[in-house]
Amino acid sequence: MRLSGKRVLVTGGARGLGRALCLTFAKHGAKVAFTYAKNEEAAASLSAELAAKGAEARAARLSVTDGKGTEALVKELEAAWGAVDVLVNNAGVTQNLPIALLEEDDWDKVMDTNVKGAFITSKAVLRGMIRRKAGVILNVGSLAGERMIEAPVHYCTSKAALRGFTEALAKEVARHQIRVLNLAPGLLEDGVGRNLPDYRLADYLKHCALGRVGTFDEIAELAAFLISDDNGYMSGATVIADGGV
Ligand SMILES: NC(=O)c1ccc[n+]([C@@H]2O[C@H](COP(=O)([O-])OP(=O)(O)OC[C@H]3O[C@@H](n4cnc5c(N)ncnc54)[C@H](OP(=O)(O)O)[C@@H]3O)[C@@H](O)[C@H]2O)c1
Repeated sequence: MRLSGKRVLVTGGARGLGRALCLTFAKHGAKVAFTYAKNEEAAASLSAELAAKGAEARAARLSVTDGKGTEALVKELEAAWGAVDVLVNNAGVTQNLPIALLEEDDWDKVMDTNVKGAFITSKAVLRGMIRRKAGVILNVGSLAGERMIEAPVHYCTSKAALRGFTEALAKEVARHQIRVLNLAPGLLEDGVGRNLPDYRLADYLKHCALGRVGTFDEIAELAAFLISDDNGYMSGATVIADGGV
């Protein structure tokens, strides 16, 4: 019960890694709120699973690019829970396309969701965190933002930007006792890497010391530690979990 009593907001929580984050945080005793873009079925299924486990959970269909909606959600959570202690900027999208096939709209969608979304949601929770002089923001980056691997240029750019965002924000809010971290997973069992061409999967496995992709649960347990009070002296850091690439 590493997160007993913590009130956590996870963006993009209904499917994939976000779902594992919500379930794992709840398992460790946290109250969990998650957002999602449009998949009502996935959100309802996660809400039911969290309720069946006795977790206190909330779901909101809300794009991370919606500034006003995000402000309203955070206000709602603070009214219901008293505070948001932890934000996990997990929502992320990509398109597996070479640069020649990327349109400006594709670029904007990935940058807006992956980077601007983290800015919007962080800004919304920070007001309360600064007032309370406590809080943790965990950004979900990617190995694609850390290493020279073959991945779509807009996605890599967005994840590298999250690293800069993490470091600048960590420095700025440290005086308020707020920690900011960047968790950069390698290739995982499903999710954004689901339509990867075979040659890219083979290339990843060839260079991965553990010789396999990661599981959502492995990353979620690491995230639970990173956001917990047990990890009090880490801020501004990027933690890579890639099986040794
Ligand atoms: N899977 C991997 O191999 C891998 C590796 C490294 C890093 N990551 C990172 O892990 C994070 C989660 O990825 P995933 O693989 O779990 O992806 P996923 O299975 O595609 O799930 C993405 C989630 O984000 C939500 N979402 C998308 N756009 C959103 C928006 N504008 N506002 C709010 N929510 C939004 C989706 O909502 P709907 O369900 O409604 O569509 C979904 O719940 C991403 O940041 C990704 O870059 C993943």
